Amino acid sequence: MQIFLDTANIENIKQAASLGIISGVTTNPSLLAKEKTSDYETVTKKICKIIDGPVSVEVLSEDAEGMIKEARIKAAWAPNVNIKIPITADGLRATSVLSKEKIKVNMTLCFSANQALLGALAGAAYVSIFVGRLDDTGQDGMQVVEDTLTILDNYPDLDTEVIAASIRHPLHCTNAALTGVHIATVPYSVLMQMIQHPMTDVGIKKFLADWKSVSK
Ligand code: G3P
Repeated sequence: MQIFLDTANIENIKQAASLGIISGVTTNPSLLAKEKTSDYETVTKKICKIIDGPVSVEVLSEDAEGMIKEARIKAAWAPNVNIKIPITADGLRATSVLSKEKIKVNMTLCFSANQALLGALAGAAYVSIFVGRLDDTGQDGMQVVEDTLTILDNYPDLDTEVIAASIRHPLHCTNAALTGVHIATVPYSVLMQMIQHPMTDVGIKKFLADWKSVSK
């Protein structure tokens, strides 16, 4: 499973990139708002200088024509920009056009395997299942990821990759990897939690204390 970072925070992206384990970045309007900026272009260009892999940038238009126009502009910001388009009828129309132009679409806000299947049929490079938000409603978000993977496996002609998104805690990452999902997009705080284990800290302390006791 590849790990993408789900943030628009440049410092966090730099820190995570230095670990050598990040394959891409996903952003959305809420993540930009969290950074108190509406300058999507500058932020995206900064991210694309740090990360070689796919960087998802969301459209704000709601009609297909507007989405297509916006996507073409945003895709020109850097060669690794992907366009996040919500799964709606207009989103599907826009995705079918853009995928034929070789603009990679990340079909976002998918909450069912059917929505993800439609995104794949429209030619989306990625479909993002919002696991945490599904869990919030009492549904099993990871089951939707699993169902989507099974469906896409049945149709090898569809080469869409599935992203487990709206990841809230390290157990989501473990469970995502157990499904065999292609990618999990993870907030920086969760990535830091994944690194840590109290027994690792205890172990390091003990090794150093033992070493100190024999080396003068
Ligand atoms: O990747 C989608 C993500 O940013 C949404 O996460 O925690 O707002 O549901 P969340």
